[in-house]
Amino acid sequence: MLGVFVRAALRPGMVKQCRPIRLTTRIPERSLVHQEGLPKLPVPSLKQTCERYLAALEPIVSEEELEHTRKLVEEFLKGGVGERLQKGLERRARKTENWLSEWWMQSAYLDCRMPVAVYTSPGVVLPRMHFQDRQGQMRFAAKLIAGVLDFKKMIDGETLPVEYLSGKPLCMDQYYQILSSCRIPGPKRDTVVNHAIGKIAPTHITVVHNFQFFVLDVYNSDDTPLTVDQLYMQLEKIWNSSLQTNKEPIGILTSQHRNTWGKAYNNLIKDKTNKESVRAIQKSIFTVCLDAPMPRVSDEMYQSRVAAQMLHGGGTRWNSGNRWFDKTLQFIVGEDGTCGLVYEHSPAEGPPIVFLIDYVVKYMQKTEMVRSPMVPLGMPQKLRFNITPEVKRDIERAKQNMNIMVHDLDVKVLMFSHYGKNVAKQHKLSPDGFVQTALQLAYYRMYDACCSTIETASLRMFKYGRTDAIRVTSVDSLKFVQAMQDPSKQNAERLQLLQKTIKTHQVNTYNAVHGQAIDRHLLGLKMLSIEDLTSIPEIYMDTSYAVAHHSNLLTSQVSSKTDCVMCFGPMVPDGYGVCYNSMDEHINIAITAFNSCEETNAGRFARAVEDALLDMRTLLEDAAPAKN
Ligand code: COA
Repeated sequence: MLGVFVRAALRPGMVKQCRPIRLTTRIPERSLVHQEGLPKLPVPSLKQTCERYLAALEPIVSEEELEHTRKLVEEFLKGGVGERLQKGLERRARKTENWLSEWWMQSAYLDCRMPVAVYTSPGVVLPRMHFQDRQGQMRFAAKLIAGVLDFKKMIDGETLPVEYLSGKPLCMDQYYQILSSCRIPGPKRDTVVNHAIGKIAPTHITVVHNFQFFVLDVYNSDDTPLTVDQLYMQLEKIWNSSLQTNKEPIGILTSQHRNTWGKAYNNLIKDKTNKESVRAIQKSIFTVCLDAPMPRVSDEMYQSRVAAQMLHGGGTRWNSGNRWFDKTLQFIVGEDGTCGLVYEHSPAEGPPIVFLIDYVVKYMQKTEMVRSPMVPLGMPQKLRFNITPEVKRDIERAKQNMNIMVHDLDVKVLMFSHYGKNVAKQHKLSPDGFVQTALQLAYYRMYDACCSTIETASLRMFKYGRTDAIRVTSVDSLKFVQAMQDPSKQNAERLQLLQKTIKTHQVNTYNAVHGQAIDRHLLGLKMLSIEDLTSIPEIYMDTSYAVAHHSNLLTSQVSSKTDCVMCFGPMVPDGYGVCYNSMDEHINIAITAFNSCEETNAGRFARAVEDALLDMRTLLEDAAPAKN
């Protein structure tokens, strides 16, 4: 593919003091210029990782398992295997710009064969809008498109403000991967293409309504973006020429298991028209899904219903066919005032996406629809698909699987309104550590045990950095949750344990964002042993390793200025996916689980989290007055 950059082939100490981490932005700075000065992702010391690995296992495996693992770790350290792999990893770090990014891209995303819908693509729920008809829907969508195009100007001009974490500039590369990009299924491994880097950058978006896709050119002949008014008129044309509701939901194919979709994709693009239509979607800057109204639910259920709509579209009767799940960015605007987005995860993490949302929301607030002089604009091109019997069969299969997935996903959005970041801050505690500890307490109360819990930490302090994992469950967190359940314990002792737990979490966070966590280092050593074709070291075949990587709680904080919440599916069949946005005065928390697992229940877990947050505040207030 000429001029197309394949993202898959990417260009490629213990902390004593730990201060709160602060995310800020600075303007103006050409965001790609600063990239060159970013440090490389370090390779932590082998001894440090082994020690931290054993410490992370302590609260989640039995004494016997831990003892067995200690021996394996010692062998790994002293027997020469670990040292050899470590040297190989250090060599790779010297030779590449980031020793991890390509491996991570492959193992976390492109090799992953589960459907992207629900399993890897996060959704974002935006505040409910007050329109209830198609005019409102299209006015909103037109403004939103204009806002994203305004944001794109900063990407095109490389004038995006550089973000800083604790005074250190962050890698801005992910922002350059989210527009004009798309994932492409392969029979064994997918790829991601970024058309923005080609010689001719795309000038169109795709709009989908009633399962029918349209190419909408969003620039005038003088390269200026269409105005909100012009966009509105074009959307109206699209709406009016896609009134039939009996169309084949071709987009549903993208929700399939990746091997299945990979095969179906080859069937689909055998036909020249289909191939051109698929290419138009892949190349588009982004997609806008004009969704049909969903069944009404109570106010209490509304956010949860929207989260589900963002993650899967609600099933084949509703909007699941109104998507191209491989597309990196899909904004969703429902006729009933629903709005949000779903994004394919491989090119970027949540923070750049919500930064874009914050920008667009602000843009929309200050932009009014101004009647512009009537410049005749062409009819947006409808994308045609020839549905052969083979394609029809693939669609039917995809529809069945989608409906199973929809029934299986259990979603609960908790809008915790009692307090927000303010309470933890007043008590000189990290708000993130506070919420994470509440999740630990909620889980322990429900299951009388703690579990492997990971929280995503950004590695963007390093060039092409993506993420590592903060191991949340610690010996300290276990002691705290046990003390909370033990009536013989006094509040003063519980408070001390809470403070210690949060401190430990903050140290682990600091280590993770500075490239000193354990998960990616262990992954790197394992990947190297696979590439070297040597036998995989015993520590990876051990039960403890499996327990540590079966994270029943997959968690992430994605904060934004907009009152929204990101959501994603669980990592394991018997686990929870928990994503939260801690705002000053309240916390939005999206919880997912699978209905097919008898032990999990998103609603029950949400109630347990709410109780835990309330009990922890009571504990703070009873035992220690806030320090203002
Ligand atoms: N006393 C008072 N205030 C404190 C404090 C303390 N002891 N500790 C922290 N704070 C303050 C911080 O200064 C910060 O202030 P701000 O609101 O003015 O910015 C605020 O509390 C939040 O800090 P904290 O809650 O500790 O967390 P964080 O914002 O540093 O976030 C991570 C921690 C791990 C979430 C973040 O570093 C990160 O990596 N985010 C990316 C996650 C990601 O990529 N997710 C992807 C999902 S797809």
